[in-house]
Order: sequence, then C-alpha cells, then structure tokens
Amino acid sequence: MSYNNILSDHDNGITTITINRPSKLNALNKETIAELHDAFAKADQEASTKAIIITGSGEKAFVAGADISEFADFSVEEGAVLARKGQEDLFDYVENLSTPVIAAVNGFALGGGLELAMAAHFRLASDNARMGLPEVSLGVIPGYGGTQRLPQLVGKGRAMEMIMTAGMIDANTALDYGLINHVVSQEELVPLAEKIAGKIMRNSSVAIAAGIKAINAGFTDGINGFDAEIDAFGTCFGTEDFKEGTTAFLEKRKAAFPGK
Ligand code: COA
Repeated sequence: MSYNNILSDHDNGITTITINRPSKLNALNKETIAELHDAFAKADQEASTKAIIITGSGEKAFVAGADISEFADFSVEEGAVLARKGQEDLFDYVENLSTPVIAAVNGFALGGGLELAMAAHFRLASDNARMGLPEVSLGVIPGYGGTQRLPQLVGKGRAMEMIMTAGMIDANTALDYGLINHVVSQEELVPLAEKIAGKIMRNSSVAIAAGIKAINAGFTDGINGFDAEIDAFGTCFGTEDFKEGTTAFLEKRKAAFPGK
C-alpha cells in the first residue's frame, strides 16, 4: 500500500510513523486510518522493528481529531459503523499490538487524536501540547475508545470533567494527571522517545509482548488479569529468550536475545 497521508521510516530497530496532513492539523480521515492500520501491521510483522513511535508532522498538531468533514451528515447507523470500524482497525488494534507503541504528542491531541495517543502503550508530550476530548461541543461523544481509556488513565472524575467541559489541558496538567509520562521541548520529543525505545530494545521482545498482553488483560471485561498473567508467565519459560536471559545473567554477561 502506498501512503498519501502518513510517513513510515525504519531506523535502528525503531519504526516511526508520522501522520502527515499538516494543513488539516493531521485530522484522521478514513484513508489515513486505513494507512495507519497498514503501517502498524507492517511494523509489527517486521522482526527488525522493536518499537514504534507515532507522531504528527508540523509544529502545531499531533492530531486535531477525526476529520469532521467526513461524518457531518452521517446517519445513526453510519455513526455506529464509523466508531466500530475505527476501534477495530486502529485504536484497539494499536493497544493490542505485540510491539511497544510510544505516542510522541507534538501539539494538539484532540478527539480521535487523544484517543490514538491513549491507544498507544504510553505517551510523551512536548510542552506546547494541548489535549482534550471536545466531542460534546459537536453534539457527539468520543467514539474511538475515549470514554473508556481516559478514565483508565486519569480516573473517572477527571475524565468526566474533561469530556463534559470539552476543554483542553496543557502538557503539565496531563503529566500531573498521569495521562503522559514525560514533558520536554518539541526538539527533544522524538529524541526522548527514541532514547526510551532504545532501553526497551535491550530487553526480550517476546517477554515484552507477553507483558503487554497481561497488562491489557486486566482492562478487558470478562478476563481475569491475574490468570492471564500466570498463563503469560508460564509461556515465557518455553522461549529461547528466557533461556538466554537467565543463562546470560548466571554467566555474568549481557543477554543477546534471539526474540523467540
Ligand atoms: N477535522 C477536519 N478538519 C480539521 C480538524 C478536524 N478535526 N481540525 C482542524 N481541521 C482543519 C481546519 O478545518 C482548517 O482547515 P482549512 O484551513 O481548510 O479551513 C485547518 O485544519 C486548520 O485548522 P484551524 O481551525 O484553522 O486552526 P486553529 O489554529 O484556528 O485551531 C484547533 C486549531 C485545533 C483549535 C481547531 O482546528 C479545532 O478546534 N479543531 C477541531 C477539534 C475537534 O473538535 N476535534 C474533535 C473531532 S471529533
């Protein structure tokens, strides 16, 4: 698939996906969502990709939301399909990827933009970033998982206030809320994401994938996270990475994980 709305670059074990519609503040239209799905799937399948960074092009926006011009005249049925398909193809898909996904929020992350950042495994932001779920100001609610992931990350009361007021919070407030893990200048943002990705890459990718699965299990209805952890823990004992990691420790050398 060739891309019209995103860029995907691979370097040193990291795939960086950049949403590239700066004239529309990187708003997520249907085509962009399809391209993102494709780029995430390819990066996840590539054994050489150990971490994925998602960011936006330009200095102003990560993503200013779903593309309002595409759904303004939708019916009830079309609205539901939009949310379901978006959740399946991109937002749930990213959250459940085996490869770590870091969102580098470089400006406005609104509506679907904040929902995409929240679907990533964790988030960093530049000090100019502003985040919010403004959907009720348009007469709709967040439909790409925002009503579920925001309370998981910031707590129910803060999520209620953010969603009801349709307001934006700045990067330091987001840090204080636990919505993001670090705030740096715009120039330092992607380098910091790469530095953290570098630390991640030293570890066993199969164990990391098992960790993502176990953590997500605790946030999935009908699944006992503790049981999921026990299963995933046991599975690790059958991997080559486990053999290498424990052997390297006992031999007092650095592990060279085969990633299997
Ligand atoms: N969908 C479609 N187009 C969008 C968009 C969105 N979510 N967000 C921004 N754009 C477009 C604007 O229409 C404008 O296009 P134009 O130049 O062809 O008119 C361009 O991006 C620049 O945006 P603009 O509003 O002129 O920039 P600004 O600096 O004045 O305001 C925002 C920035 C983010 C405050 C403002 O764009 C905004 O409120 N966007 C919508 C946010 C939103 O409600 N998102 C949730 C959607 S469910």
